[in-house]
Amino acid sequence: MAVSEALVAAARAAREHAVADFSGFKVGAALETDTGEIITGCNIENATYGLTMCAERVALYKALSDGRDIFTRIAVVADTEDPTPPCGSCRQLLWEYCGDIEVILSNLSEVKRRLRLSQLLPLPFDARLLE
Ligand code: THU
Repeated sequence: MAVSEALVAAARAAREHAVADFSGFKVGAALETDTGEIITGCNIENATYGLTMCAERVALYKALSDGRDIFTRIAVVADTEDPTPPCGSCRQLLWEYCGDIEVILSNLSEVKRRLRLSQLLPLPFDARLLE
């Protein structure tokens, strides 16, 4: 597997910008493009709670809005002993826009788990079913 220290470090740094005053649960994400570019995101909460945006989707939407559309890996960082995986909504969006990318789950000190998105979303609904 390719070296991922820089990607995980970028996700850790992005986590510092999390706007998580309601849950106190800060998450950082870093998405890597096919050219090796890294686009980061953090979770952003608000007073309605329900409009919260996860770190993974912030990174994804930033990347898509900058015209990036081929991705290889995503690192997700939270301050938990057990790995923090993307929520169901993020799994769906990552699948649709990134395909079967590698997902690297880390905490503040170490990588806890590496897996493929297809392991997290084994029977996906996507545009192929609309044809
Ligand atoms: N959260 C993420 O940003 N990504 C995840 O993978 C799991 C959960 C955020 C959403 C919310 O701001 C906080 O963590 C608690 O659920």
